[in-house]
Amino acid sequence: MDKLAELLTVKPRLFEPGEPLFWNDPHISKGMLKAHLDPTHDAASRRPEIIDNIVKHLLDSGVLTPEMKLLDLGCGPGLYAERFCRTGIHVTGIDISERSIDYAKKHAAESGLKIEYRCMDFFDMDYTGEFDAVVQIYGELCVFPDSKRDELLALTHKALKPGGVFVFDITTRTHRMKAGLKNRWYFSQGGFWYPERHLVLEQGFNYPEDSVWLDQYIVICNEGVKVYRNWFRDYSRDSVSKVLSDAGFSIKHVWNDLTGAEFSEDGDWIGIVAVKE
Ligand SMILES: C[S@@+](CC[C@H](N)C(=O)[O-])C[C@H]1O[C@@H](n2cnc3c(N)ncnc32)[C@H](O)[C@@H]1O
Repeated sequence: MDKLAELLTVKPRLFEPGEPLFWNDPHISKGMLKAHLDPTHDAASRRPEIIDNIVKHLLDSGVLTPEMKLLDLGCGPGLYAERFCRTGIHVTGIDISERSIDYAKKHAAESGLKIEYRCMDFFDMDYTGEFDAVVQIYGELCVFPDSKRDELLALTHKALKPGGVFVFDITTRTHRMKAGLKNRWYFSQGGFWYPERHLVLEQGFNYPEDSVWLDQYIVICNEGVKVYRNWFRDYSRDSVSKVLSDAGFSIKHVWNDLTGAEFSEDGDWIGIVAVKE
């Protein structure tokens, strides 16, 4: 069977990888940075007013305090890092996207903000007991299979000081079901996925017994057929509590999101503050 026919007829295995480059792809990262910085939608980062509310809530609730040492995992172009830094928090930001980190470094320098940015895979971090807080915002923990998620939790646990907090948000099945399975195609003269003429076939797959979801994008272009796979593992309060407890964290706060909205079982997101035991 040729590649396209197979892609269109076979349901991918759980977390079967697509193209190796996504966040750091030289072309895709251009559109991604533009999306992060676009204040009118929530595609790559949340809108500025929501980011402001999250930062305000984390400070007002005392979860974060000035002078803390904070690590921002997957900091993107530094939208949260800069706001944290302005409150007197000492921020280190890690991201795999060279384009986002270059932007973040330049913007911080122009704004007179002292933030340490590192362009690297967070699976390669090697901190021991250095941070009072680690944040990972906008659902990044959901994109990994359980074994990789646990590896990242172990690295995060090790990076924190005793009693340090891990602040993050994750999606629920409610969020996924509202979005619905992708199922459309379009022709483009050049766009997000590829700079020249190409065809995009979007297809969604549901793995309900594993709480896993796939948004698949098949891109047919002059280089051939490429497949991009965005995997998501969704959580409930119970399922994430077990994962955190196994990783050596206890839960301090559970909200509907990181702006501090009251938790409800049928919310779209879960915002969590977990403490290193
Ligand atoms: C959904 S975006 C969120 C960005 C930022 N937290 C925000 O909300 O504005 C996820 C970020 O994680 C980064 N990322 C993904 N995988 C990564 C990895 N393995 N190591 C470091 N950064 C990664 C991406 O480049 C991207 O900037």
